[in-house]
Amino acid sequence: MNKISIIGAGMTGATTAHWLAERELANLVLVDVVEGMPQGKSLDMLQAMPIIGKDVSIVGANDYAATAGSDIIIITAGLARKPGMSRDDLLTKNADIVGAAAIETLKYSPDAIYIVLTNPLDTMAYLTMKKTGLPRERVIGQAGILDSARMRAFVAMETGVSVDNINCYVLGGHGDEMVPLTRHSNIAGIPLKEYLPADKLEAIVARTRKGGGEIVNLLKTGSAYYAPSAACAQMAEAILKNKHLIVPCAAYMQGEYGLNDMYFGVPAMLGRGGLERIIEYKFDEEEKAMFEKSAASVKETHDALRKLVEL
Ligand SMILES: NC(=O)c1ccc[n+]([C@@H]2O[C@H](COP(=O)([O-])OP(=O)(O)OC[C@H]3O[C@@H](n4cnc5c(N)ncnc54)[C@H](O)[C@@H]3O)[C@@H](O)[C@H]2O)c1
Repeated sequence: MNKISIIGAGMTGATTAHWLAERELANLVLVDVVEGMPQGKSLDMLQAMPIIGKDVSIVGANDYAATAGSDIIIITAGLARKPGMSRDDLLTKNADIVGAAAIETLKYSPDAIYIVLTNPLDTMAYLTMKKTGLPRERVIGQAGILDSARMRAFVAMETGVSVDNINCYVLGGHGDEMVPLTRHSNIAGIPLKEYLPADKLEAIVARTRKGGGEIVNLLKTGSAYYAPSAACAQMAEAILKNKHLIVPCAAYMQGEYGLNDMYFGVPAMLGRGGLERIIEYKFDEEEKAMFEKSAASVKETHDALRKLVEL
């Protein structure tokens, strides 16, 4: 049985464990600083396994020893947004938490592949790569599956078509400047631009960009967790099952799309080696401009991190 350790047993961490346990994909460890909480959630989830008929071990801990020998480490530890906050407002606090989690987990799981969820996402993935010294293949950020799923859900709501027929691709940074690619998105092969009137499509794009904020404003005490955690579980499954699945992920740029030394949302192939390949789309002028605007914003957060932390 594979082993996945999830650092941060809050809303996204615990829900990621839930999705993973349902898939019977790996034995699970939940780590959190709050005493008793990861143990309590793990025990509760473990007691659900006989009901759903899954043979999975789920262990909670307050230290990293329990994570030893993990195949995948998922980092969700850190503060989430409250109404009025941007993801970048979380940088200072979360850099400390994620930096420490990255270093400590690597000591126990030198062969692990990292999936990072903590915000600001692109920058926290960069920090994890720099702190662990791992190659880019082994540190991947989750954002694009979620942003694309939000767009797919909105298209399904508008059209009444099955989500299975709806393919949407949202790239770029995980912020309000993200890049929903309407030209590449389609319903059963029919371009979205043909299927939907322009005003409806524009409204969907705008709602997708603010999709996280809409939920923060409704919840008032935290941010989204069902869809983000489902996205983490899909990435873990693609890696452990060596699926060669192409999904939008935050990946370390080494010249792709003209970007360097930063994490950014691009289509990537995931398999047992982690990030196996980055796929480069051909952009038109409008898409290129959106992509560059998003990259400039993500670069700023990377620069802020470099001023804050020695890398
Ligand atoms: N990338 C994405 O698409 C995406 C989506 C949703 C949330 N997020 C981000 O994920 C993070 C977690 O969100 P959440 O809703 O689970 O928040 P949460 O507050 O419910 O959970 C975070 C958990 O981290 C724990 N924690 C804090 N410091 C820790 C440490 N040093 N070691 C271990 N655990 C520690 C906290 O005790 C808490 O239980 C936030 O930064 C949020 O913005 C990202």
